[in-house]
Amino acid sequence: MTPATSAIAACCAGLYGHPIVELIAGQSLHPGGLATTRRLLGEARLAPWARLLDAGCGLGASARLAAIEFELRVDACDVSASALSRAATLAESAGAGIDFRTASVLELPYPRGAFAAVLSECVLSTTSRTDGLAELRRVTEDGGVLLLSDVTATETVAIPEPLASVLCLTGAWRPGELDEVLGSAGYRMERGWDETDGVSSLIDRLEARIGLLGAVARDTGEFERLGDFGAGLDQIGDRAHVDGMFRAIRQMLREGRIGYRAVVARAL
Ligand SMILES: C[S@@+](CC[C@H](N)C(=O)[O-])C[C@H]1O[C@@H](n2cnc3c(N)ncnc32)[C@H](O)[C@@H]1O
Repeated sequence: MTPATSAIAACCAGLYGHPIVELIAGQSLHPGGLATTRRLLGEARLAPWARLLDAGCGLGASARLAAIEFELRVDACDVSASALSRAATLAESAGAGIDFRTASVLELPYPRGAFAAVLSECVLSTTSRTDGLAELRRVTEDGGVLLLSDVTATETVAIPEPLASVLCLTGAWRPGELDEVLGSAGYRMERGWDETDGVSSLIDRLEARIGLLGAVARDTGEFERLGDFGAGLDQIGDRAHVDGMFRAIRQMLREGRIGYRAVVARAL
């Protein structure tokens, strides 16, 4: 992990399970939400009861979809203990039998070839992607499938942490990079498509909710209570700052400088 990505992991492990993040971003923490996940899982054509790992599962929305709608046997892991605790509660309420473990994609507690499919959405951009891909390959059976989606950006995006990390922008892939590295990571690319529209709808939702939350926080002086929420987010009480940040992201989207890529790759 580079110093930058380890700083990202440190900043965000507590954030993903924070109720405020869930309020703002929802339970599916990637652009395109469950529609993107449903397409990835559909493309994989897995048999019921095939074993799937959701690596970096966050609040487990995709893991629940895989278990309930696709009838897969699902394991899920994440470095964030707070996210996992919330994910376990949500899975239990939904009646989804998922085996959750606190673990990094850089060191997965599963044997070689344990899974027919590995799903990882908006995760490798937040950590060491080469080591992460190698570890995902190790736990995928030969002939199994990797279902990956992540953010791409042509350059560093100048928005403050921890928001940049929550949006997977800090360590975003260069356009084309993901498709390029799959071969050397032991996969054959089968299908890849653009899901950038999902970024726009996520940004719409975040902007509306952050604006509302910022107004409430500003009026009530509640920011002090968000202690572990990180320094960057206290700026959401500053409307001009928030507007400027979203304007910058939208402009980058319009100019094609930010994107979202989904890929299905076969483990060789
Ligand atoms: C943007 S969220 C995506 C969560 C989930 N995949 C989803 O789409 O709803 C990124 C997730 O990756 C997790 N994460 C970051 N680095 C990780 C690592 N090295 N190993 C496992 N999980 C990691 C974070 O804790 C967070 O839950």
